[in-house]
Amino acid sequence: MKYLFMPVITFVLICTLAYDGVPRPARSLRAIADERRLLIGACVSTRHLQANEDYRATLANEFNSIVAENDMKFHRLQPRKGEFAFGNADRLVAFAKENDMSVRGHTLMWHDSVPAWLKETAWSKEELREILKTHIETVLERYKGKIFAWDVVNEAITDEGEWRESIWYDTLGEDFLFDAFRWARETDPNTKLFYNDYSAEPVNTKSDRIYALVQDMKENGVPIDGVGFQLHIRAEDELDVESIRENIRRLANLGLEVHFTEVDVRIRKPVTEEKLALQAQRYRELMELFLSEPNCTAFLTWGVSDRYSWIPGHFEGYDDALLFDRAFLPKPAYEALYQSIEQN
Ligand code: XIL
Repeated sequence: MKYLFMPVITFVLICTLAYDGVPRPARSLRAIADERRLLIGACVSTRHLQANEDYRATLANEFNSIVAENDMKFHRLQPRKGEFAFGNADRLVAFAKENDMSVRGHTLMWHDSVPAWLKETAWSKEELREILKTHIETVLERYKGKIFAWDVVNEAITDEGEWRESIWYDTLGEDFLFDAFRWARETDPNTKLFYNDYSAEPVNTKSDRIYALVQDMKENGVPIDGVGFQLHIRAEDELDVESIRENIRRLANLGLEVHFTEVDVRIRKPVTEEKLALQAQRYRELMELFLSEPNCTAFLTWGVSDRYSWIPGHFEGYDDALLFDRAFLPKPAYEALYQSIEQN
């Protein structure tokens, strides 16, 4: 009878071992990043920040920067016209201050996360312009000196390199984007202004269009400091590092910084040790690329632990995209990121 249980016991043992995380190094990721003046961050939800001690501890120990996952989006900050709700965003900024972390701002305008009151009315161009101006000025004024960089505009270009339809573009046309950057600069001259997007990391139709756009901005004196690469990628896809490098360099030639703003490497389920190793390799490739290009100045992951991640809700069949597992134990991806920083 006992022989019958052996395979079961062995299986349970293997599972336990596999989920024990990689050994935690004596010094944290944050410690070695701080030493090299490297900005390493994660997106944060104020709700989890308040509810979970492991979440708070992991953030404060392992990262030196944060960005709000949702709490600084338009619908959260201005749920009713002219009524701003800064509570959660303020709590996040306070947490960063207590723990000596910097804050990235995300995001002033996006086609998504627009409040109902804004969507439901057919605004005239003048009215909508005024709404946007007030929003940008109010938010930037509030966090003046507290947020080192803002995603002023998020995802305005489609994969085909066209303007994306949105409440902003449909009513205001292309000017919306230039105006937004100008208002942001006027309100807080010291925060860096970014255009942020996804699937535009290598040289492709979309990144060509974004390049042309930011080049046009630079030539016409529209203030912009950098481009955000979201980098929501899949472990199974090869990373075209050299093409991403080429894109980073052409932006550098325009005098622009690049932030890796929302890195996550999702795994197709079921998750195996091989897939975790492949994921670790992708994180390593990204960090090595990041470290080798001087205009890459911030590296943030889109979440802290696989316990809370947007991936399962948005990409069916995928999960486990982050550096820490559900028990906040470091994964091979953490080890890979750590080693690539240490070795550089
Ligand atoms: C996502 C959040 O993670 C989710 O919680 C929310 O439901 C939708 O937005 N690109 C972005 C981020 O710029 O703001 C998105 O965040 C993920 C994709």
